[in-house]
Amino acid sequence: MRKPEKTKKRIERVTMKCSLKLAGTVFTMFMSLASIALAEPVSFPKGAATPSETCGECHQTLYREYALGVGSDNRSANHSIPATVSSAATAHATSKFTPLASGGDVEWCRACHFAGSFNIPAKGELGKQLPNVANAGEISITCATCHLTPEGKVRGVHKTGNAPHASVAEPALQSSAICAHCHVDTTDKRIVGGQYQTFMEWREDFNKPGLGAQQCQDCHMPRTLRKLAEDSDGAPVAVGRHLWTGGHSGQRLGGSLSLAIIQRDKEKANLSFSVTNIGAGHSVPTGPNARGVYLSVDVLDRQGVSRARKEWLFAPNFSARPDDKAFLEADKKLSGYEGYAQTRADAQGVHEAPVRAGEERLVNWDPALAPGLYTVKAQLRYTTDRFAAPVADDEKVMGSAALLITSK
Ligand code: HEC
Ligand code: HEC
Ligand code: HEC
Ligand code: HEC
Ligand code: HEC
Repeated sequence: MRKPEKTKKRIERVTMKCSLKLAGTVFTMFMSLASIALAEPVSFPKGAATPSETCGECHQTLYREYALGVGSDNRSANHSIPATVSSAATAHATSKFTPLASGGDVEWCRACHFAGSFNIPAKGELGKQLPNVANAGEISITCATCHLTPEGKVRGVHKTGNAPHASVAEPALQSSAICAHCHVDTTDKRIVGGQYQTFMEWREDFNKPGLGAQQCQDCHMPRTLRKLAEDSDGAPVAVGRHLWTGGHSGQRLGGSLSLAIIQRDKEKANLSFSVTNIGAGHSVPTGPNARGVYLSVDVLDRQGVSRARKEWLFAPNFSARPDDKAFLEADKKLSGYEGYAQTRADAQGVHEAPVRAGEERLVNWDPALAPGLYTVKAQLRYTTDRFAAPVADDEKVMGSAALLITSK
């Protein structure tokens, strides 16, 4: 999952170009607006492969969010460029680098990482259209991937009538349906505890039982009053921010899990740790099986010396069965990407399943301690890559708790 040096260089070049472009936008704006005033309506013959810079010439703030992450605390070792901006580009803007770096069945990977334009699936459906690839992998998920209909019209929420391009209002743009096109496995079979289940976790665990009315956008694209295009006469309207913070954002991770330590018996070191999903509309962690949350506990004596430690891992399984060392021998028969990915998952052994939307997970631990006074310290950490050695560059603390206990 680490990108080789060559790929990193390419990211740098592309983003450098983006930032230069920003500096020059005011200039370009005048030029392009001048030509629009007289010219034909703007059209996008390249479809989903239309570079986002093209839309960014008129939609500058949205472009800055998408390409540079400005307005977020997105951090990623691979995407934190250019060096002059503290935030990192969104994962959508850099999605082309991921499958190239990881190999795998490229055609299939492209169906999401550089998807072609698509119709928004019906409510509640996955609607993945495969292979539906935009181009030869030269481009990431672009503005046009999400906004251009297969007929070449720009889909929006508001029908302004001011746009220089052909537009169509599609209310589904504000619903989870559009995200369901990619944030799924490609089958409609729910695998509890499995990877790439985000949309189904939202549909089955969060939306259906009525845990909340939020769509993906309500949490991941909070709205701001602003002009849709900087140089337009249109009045400001509520527009979703294009930042999509997830596992690379401390702000996003911070409110998702609550952690508490409970001493079940006042006299004994019988401990429970309560991990509750209070902030996500799906499991934590969600998405690829490389994502993981560690709960680490340290029991310190009065001198501050560690007397007992334990760690749990919450993570999605690679396949429909639990990851388990017992399968390592059988894994030798698997080949290609599946062999590699199943083996590394099984090598880490059995772990806790992700914490589902609204779920409180209790894990128990009764460490053997000599009589005395102790401080129990617990911490939750998020990693975007539990297979990275020794630790992923972007591990983040999600929360912590401490409790003073007596053991008799
Ligand atoms: C991953 C899909 C996705 C990508 C990529 C994307 N958008 Fe959006 N865009 C959306 C969604 C979803 C909304 C509606 C948000 C909401 O719920 O209010 C939206 C809203 C908008 C709106 C407001 C529409 C209206 O009628 O109010 C504009 C303008 C816009 N996007 C432009 C862009 C531009 C420019 C880019 C590229 C820099 C871009 N988008 C990239 C999904 C996307
Ligand atoms: C065309 C496919 C596609 C659509 C549509 C799409 N996404 Fe994504 N999304 C991806 C891919 C692929 C990535 C990961 C890119 C990478 O890291 O290489 C991603 C990444 C993300 C991340 C960031 C995860 C991280 O690790 O930082 C969030 C959050 C997210 N998407 C939310 C959404 C939401 C909300 C919607 C609907 C408004 C949406 N996406 C629509 C394909 C899509
Ligand atoms: C030449 C300038 C220009 C370009 C290029 C441009 N837009 Fe627009 N767009 C506008 C203006 C102006 C509006 C209307 C803004 C208003 O009414 O405040 C608009 C409106 C929109 C809307 C809102 C719905 C509507 O139709 O009014 C969306 C969504 C949108 N654009 C997306 C895009 C995407 C995606 C691209 C690139 C594929 C793009 N735009 C390229 C100028 C542009
Ligand atoms: C109630 C708010 C809420 C809703 C609704 C919600 N999310 Fe999230 N999302 C979160 C939080 C909090 C996190 C961080 C914790 C985590 O990774 O689960 C997150 C993380 C993510 C990530 C990052 C995972 C990674 O690999 O880095 C993706 C992708 C994502 N959400 C997509 C979606 C999609 C798609 C939907 C709709 C089907 C959705 N979310 C609905 C709150 C929400
Ligand atoms: C059905 C859509 C889809 C397909 C097909 C797909 N991906 Fe993804 N991929 C995603 C989404 C969505 C994410 C964002 C993370 C999440 O879901 O939480 C992602 C994230 C990733 C990441 C993690 C990037 C990071 O930020 O750490 C890697 C690596 C990856 N994909 C590789 C691949 C490879 C290799 C293939 C082909 C074998 C592939 N993907 C096929 C949707 C897809």
